[in-house]
Amino acid sequence: MDVLVIGAGLAGLGLGLRVAQAGLQVTILAKGALTEGSSLYAQGGIAAVIGEYDSFAAHIQDTLTAGAGLCHRDAVEHIVRRGPDNIQWLIGQGVEFDRLNDSKGTRNFHLTREGGHSHRRVIHARDATGRAVENTLEAKVRAHPNVTVLENHIAVDLVSSGKLGLDPPERNLGAFVFDMSCNRITPISARVTVLATGGASKSYLYTSNPDTSTGDGIAMAWRVGCRVANMEFVQFHPTCLYHPHAKSLLISEAVRGEGGRLLLPDGKQFMQQHDSRGELAPRDIVARAIDYEMKRHGYDCVYLDISQKSSSFVKGHFPNIYERCLEFGIDMTKQPIPVVPAAHYTCGGVLTDLRGRTDLLDLYTIGESGFTGLHGANRLASNSLLECLALAESASKDIVKRVTDPTAEVIALPKWDESLVTDPDERVVVSHNWEELRRSMWDYVGIVRTDKRLQRAQRRIALLQEEIRDFYSNFTINSDLIELRNLVAVSDLIVKSALSRKESRGLHYTLDYPHPEKTSYPQDTIVVPTNFVGAHLDPRWTE
Ligand code: FAD
Ligand code: SIN
Repeated sequence: MDVLVIGAGLAGLGLGLRVAQAGLQVTILAKGALTEGSSLYAQGGIAAVIGEYDSFAAHIQDTLTAGAGLCHRDAVEHIVRRGPDNIQWLIGQGVEFDRLNDSKGTRNFHLTREGGHSHRRVIHARDATGRAVENTLEAKVRAHPNVTVLENHIAVDLVSSGKLGLDPPERNLGAFVFDMSCNRITPISARVTVLATGGASKSYLYTSNPDTSTGDGIAMAWRVGCRVANMEFVQFHPTCLYHPHAKSLLISEAVRGEGGRLLLPDGKQFMQQHDSRGELAPRDIVARAIDYEMKRHGYDCVYLDISQKSSSFVKGHFPNIYERCLEFGIDMTKQPIPVVPAAHYTCGGVLTDLRGRTDLLDLYTIGESGFTGLHGANRLASNSLLECLALAESASKDIVKRVTDPTAEVIALPKWDESLVTDPDERVVVSHNWEELRRSMWDYVGIVRTDKRLQRAQRRIALLQEEIRDFYSNFTINSDLIELRNLVAVSDLIVKSALSRKESRGLHYTLDYPHPEKTSYPQDTIVVPTNFVGAHLDPRWTE
């Protein structure tokens, strides 16, 4: 096989489809149903320069401003400039975005507004953009003769040539994969492997993300010797539904973009006191303001109110959010929605260049699990799906060239050895540790941090890591254990990175260093594994 793609969100499906269309043989893995993942639930839309009065310069500047001085300008330029063509590519695959008649009667795309954007720039399909995109790409991928789809298959670990004692030692050869339908682990070899496994927001107790976001790709790349960057920048979305029975329901930023106001329980607006951009300030500022108000007054939540708009406007723009809220007894056309911030996006990830290349030859990472430098210290709303598209495009071009090279040969991998392990005696250890880890991350590594809280989390994580290592080495594995092992590894990276940054910047806010560092230019927090294998990425690469 030419390409093993681990993950079937927008990044994985986009790349898989592109390389299949270029004639390569592809296998796409998903650990649940094919499209289950954050991409499926994306609401607001995709940021791209499409509007008549918009410009690349403005989108680039908005991204840099939101990123609080840490964005890599080359990444921002590359990704923003690839926006319009990638939207055209999606339209070419059959995605239908919302259109609206303008004053001259022309049917233009409707562009919504979100925090930190100086223009209406977010193209969308109602309030379920992710579903429209994923369903379209799923149909294409399933129909393509070059694509094999393996659902309910969870990658456990990558296999490098170094691990097998082969030369050169820094090439990736494939992965061990756990088939959840029969509880068996098989090796899969490929010329090229792509991690497109999404983020790690499930390391927090409260998150907008689905269950797939357990940081698997980041942890696997770390274990195999790749560097990981900027993990301290965990984005909390300001507005998730606050309701005892709602597991993770996001209330899109587009609701604020279309006029929604944030209110305290007594009905007073408060955002203007925190930032002159009010409800449309970048996400880090809005989430921190809500956290501040909740803690100051002892409130359980604040409220998001768009009931001043007509009922038809609300139902027309946000049909899914309206329906979902109604299921919980909240009619957003008539009453404010109770909301709280929750972990939403992993700005850090596996260090890559703008082709998605990592430190290991023939291992690529794209989408939320990768780190290109686009987001800096805080991601601009709706830039994530854009990054998935742009990196799927540039990585697929690089992969198509790479697989024709004779050194990109397929090497057979050894079988998984289970001769020394037995069935677990106490599965409760796994579920208990899941809970403890996520609560510790929420309590001590949240929106407002201190060194003391971070150190407290670090001590707990070290203990959990030891227990999980022991469990993993002695017992047969299952998907819960695989994910917990990854979550704890990624949580450790988040805490290590947060402790290294002695300033407050973007999403990393600490009471011990409440201001941004002014004296020297702030650097990325790059964490280097002890088995670091060497760089195959070229940060200067441009097309
Ligand atoms: P995902 O879409 O999360 O896909 C990950 C895939 O990897 C899944 O198929 C999963 O099964 C698979 N996987 C993971 N681990 C393994 C493993 N070990 N083995 C096999 N498969 C594995 N961004 C925007 O730009 N605009 C928005 O409007 C927007 N709205 C959002 C709304 C919500 C509710 C959420 C949660 C996020 C939103 N985001 C939005 C962020 C954006 O959706 C994600 O960052 C993006 O979809 C990530 O895409 P991805 O392909 O990298 O990963
Ligand atoms: C939203 O619709 O608020 C999510 C947008 C994003 O995460 O970029």
